[in-house]
Amino acid sequence: MLSPEKNKLLTEVGPGTAMGDYLRRYWHPVAGVSEFDDKAVRPIRLFGEDLVLYKDLSGHYGLVQRRCPHRNADLAFGIVEQCGLRCAYHGWEFGRDGACTHQPFEEIVDPQARLRQKTRITAYEVRAKAGLLWAYMGPLPAPQLPDWEPFSYEHGFAQVVMAEIPCNWFQCQENSIDPVHFEWTHNNWTARQQDAGAAYVPTHLKAAYEEFEHGFVYKRLRAAETEENVMWTVGRVTLWPNGFYLGHHFEWRVPIDDENTLSVFWVFNRVPKEQEPYVQPRIPTWYGPLYDENGDWITSHVANQDFAAWVGQGRITDRSKETLGASDRGIVMMRRKFFEELEAVAGGAVPKGLITDPAKNERVFLPSACREEMLTGLTREALTAHPLLGPYLHDFFGQAGQPDEVREAYEQAVGQKMRGAKFFTVHGAGEAETS
Ligand code: FES
Ligand SMILES: [Fe+2]
Repeated sequence: MLSPEKNKLLTEVGPGTAMGDYLRRYWHPVAGVSEFDDKAVRPIRLFGEDLVLYKDLSGHYGLVQRRCPHRNADLAFGIVEQCGLRCAYHGWEFGRDGACTHQPFEEIVDPQARLRQKTRITAYEVRAKAGLLWAYMGPLPAPQLPDWEPFSYEHGFAQVVMAEIPCNWFQCQENSIDPVHFEWTHNNWTARQQDAGAAYVPTHLKAAYEEFEHGFVYKRLRAAETEENVMWTVGRVTLWPNGFYLGHHFEWRVPIDDENTLSVFWVFNRVPKEQEPYVQPRIPTWYGPLYDENGDWITSHVANQDFAAWVGQGRITDRSKETLGASDRGIVMMRRKFFEELEAVAGGAVPKGLITDPAKNERVFLPSACREEMLTGLTREALTAHPLLGPYLHDFFGQAGQPDEVREAYEQAVGQKMRGAKFFTVHGAGEAETS
């Protein structure tokens, strides 16, 4: 349980708020590189600010305020130039750094361009990496954009999967340190949606949480598993401050504003050994729906099950009405860490896990329960039998709405057809107990 004041501290992300300013000290994935294959400009809202993201004619990306400072026209209608963006209303042009570089009519009347020199717009740095576009909205100089090791894994098919979630970011991130929900939300709920009499899966017996430089590691042990299981020996990473890393994919929960969150998945599947060498020509990006054609929540896929759970907690969940239990130990640790961090950073400390030294930003290691397999690859037979990776060979169970062209590109990469199942058996659903 938290007081309303403390809940505000965790959940308010607009400019000038403690958490908003804290999160802005990190790079955030905000779009896919491939989104700009066929368009040059799009609006985007981040941390309560309306912005436009664009790719100029020289191939560089920019992120600037959405309203033109002349008479407030929408720069989402802007014209990209060699270096920057021009307002489509009267032609004022702005560089990627926010400087006004051209005011066509004003400069004819006043060749000294005095007004232009005084005009600036808000601009943030954007970089492309791993098929994602990353934004940095904090004070300069920017820290390193993390070069997480999986970004250089080879012989794999990566995809960027997005969704806009109508709830606050923090309840999404609490899910990154919540092992027990896996058993209920992803195993038992899936089973019971198909068969009201289905047996429940083996329950959690214990969970452990450890802090490290880039977040927390959580470990779980379920009935029918031994302490040799990778979920107990290695576990999963609650990636600081707003990510989740599971060895074969990352998830980030990027605040759009206090009441909306951009869910970003970067999923990497190494192809079977038989398909190597494989070089992916293009990392696709797609946005998945939350609702089906009847307006009902989609609850078949793993991420959609999570989305329904998070949004179900309320737009900004009221933590003064919680009843925390033993399964919430990680969540309590994470909240406490955020409160400590907000205080420490207000006193001048460097935020947790920020990488500032380029020499320390090469293939940055994160614990992973399938690292070896990702580095060396598996035959089709071994991959099929792999408890964590095998299911990906048959279905994209991560999130609903994968476009046909992405599925087809994936099928070509892995050398087999997908099954097109409606529901999925994911890790932990193996040995059912009687209910
Ligand atoms: S409103 Fe943008 S140039 Fe006039
Ligand atoms: Fe989940």
